[in-house]
Amino acid sequence: MIYLDNGATSFPKPKGMMNAMVECMRDYCGNPGRSGHRMSMKTGEEIYKARKELGKLFHIEDCGRIIFTSNTTESLNLGIKGVLEQGDHVITTSMEHNSVLRPLKMQEDSGVETTIVKCAGDGSLNVEALKKEIKDNTKLIVCTHASNVTGTILPVKEIGALAKQKGILFMVDGAQSAGCIPIDVIDLKIDMLALPGHKGLLGPMGTGMLYVSDSVAIRPLKEGGTGTKSRELDQPMDFPDGYEAGTVNAPGIIGLGHSCSYISEIGVENIRAYEEELTSALDEALRNMDNVRVYGPWDCRKKTGVVTFNVNHLGCEEVSERLSTDYEIASRGGYHCAALAHKTIGTYETGAVRLSVGPYNTKREIKMAIEAVYQIQKV
Ligand SMILES: Cc1ncc(COP(=O)(O)O)c(C=O)c1O
Repeated sequence: MIYLDNGATSFPKPKGMMNAMVECMRDYCGNPGRSGHRMSMKTGEEIYKARKELGKLFHIEDCGRIIFTSNTTESLNLGIKGVLEQGDHVITTSMEHNSVLRPLKMQEDSGVETTIVKCAGDGSLNVEALKKEIKDNTKLIVCTHASNVTGTILPVKEIGALAKQKGILFMVDGAQSAGCIPIDVIDLKIDMLALPGHKGLLGPMGTGMLYVSDSVAIRPLKEGGTGTKSRELDQPMDFPDGYEAGTVNAPGIIGLGHSCSYISEIGVENIRAYEEELTSALDEALRNMDNVRVYGPWDCRKKTGVVTFNVNHLGCEEVSERLSTDYEIASRGGYHCAALAHKTIGTYETGAVRLSVGPYNTKREIKMAIEAVYQIQKV
């Protein structure tokens, strides 16, 4: 299959990552931080190495501030519910995934007020419009780094600077950007960074992380065994253990550490350059087809490796189905868990088809995808 659904999860995965997971499960997978025997200790050490690798990728100086989670959704829930309290105001954007919007909606029941800033038709955000929404009780700005619907990159550097100047916490959803475009939490002034292991970082499903800067006080999302302070009934608030209650996904985290090390070796900038080249070719070809409408920015430097489109006379699910059945091409058709983003770009009634590239895609595959869409859109 020609896999162009990397926005959902990346495929294939690096061999070194898979080997590390197998090795862990086959040779030493004791419960980390629980027992003092060799296997448990070795698992703990390997998890620590994974934390260091993630820290290196995102310029996180204290990797103890990285909390491992099972996906971006859990990381976003932890960050959002961990800092917001009754009477707080939060600002977000209309290009968010439901993993941001639904926890915020739920927080309304706890007396938290949300403002959603409307983005432009190509998904871009005007920071001035966001600035106007800041109030005395604004505690948090949370936004996606790049839209999963159009790939549009939001101006996180400017938002981070604004948030810092106003004393507001800044949380970034890096689901579509981690491993695809460089992220430096210091430079971007990010207080909390939520991301998946299974997308651009090329790790396994069931992995994710939340970075919390040392200036942020956060409540845990769950309480339970941490392997520390076991005689106390109160949940320890120590980083990271206090926020990782229960047995962690050790093989997954260790695999993720290996895929991050692989990405560091290649360089995120190089991945970005290659994906941009593939995306530009695909984007340009689709925009030139008579019966195809492509959404999002024209300039591929302003988006990640996502090309989202519709064929005038066909439903998005049908196009996606034909790509799969007739051409062995994996795409995603529908609403991409982001209804407001579809409202923003004008596809709320129709949904859209998304092709999303990854570092393992080839130019030949892109050519084949272009030919397939060309054949499908012909009347
Ligand atoms: C922008 C964005 N945020 C959050 C998520 C949720 O990620 P996960 O499936 O890792 O929970 C996704 C998933 O596609 C996404 O694209």
